[in-house]
Amino acid sequence: MTVRTVLRMGDPRLLAPAEPVADLDTPELHKLVGDLWETMAANQGVGLAAPQIGIGLRVVVFAVSANPRYPQAEPIPPTALVNPNLHPLSEARAEDWEGCLSLPGLGGVVPRYPRLRYTGFTPEGEPLDREVTDFHARVVQHECDHIDGVLYPMRMPDLSRFGFTEELAEQRSQEL
Ligand code: NI
Repeated sequence: MTVRTVLRMGDPRLLAPAEPVADLDTPELHKLVGDLWETMAANQGVGLAAPQIGIGLRVVVFAVSANPRYPQAEPIPPTALVNPNLHPLSEARAEDWEGCLSLPGLGGVVPRYPRLRYTGFTPEGEPLDREVTDFHARVVQHECDHIDGVLYPMRMPDLSRFGFTEELAEQRSQEL
């Protein structure tokens, strides 16, 4: 496993829709997932998508354990998700702060569906099907946006709530 460079906003590879993974449980896919975990951990993130390390495939990873940086965050089991599909279970959206390893030092308020079903596959090829809420749902939507070439500021209706986390210190900020 290798720590890869995380691309930053402005790199056109972050805006390109990623391709589905054709074959599951291959050495190449396991290597990619290993690199994503390693790179996420090295940057203390809670999630990472393959396009963020320059790989245009529909693969994301995310996990939240007892993390002192996110004391309010509910735990999320370590999940590597291949070829995901999202099915919102609410019409209303909830607003909360997000950050992103591709926009280091920045945070913003993003509306997301607070209830979500997601499906897809593990890297080994097992089907995944979960219903989740709140922070787990937010993380999945953020990471899956990356494989569609969407960065969180592109979801923000109000850019007055976007800025540098040091200046926003009074407000909650999370690097996804
Ligand atoms: Ni991100």
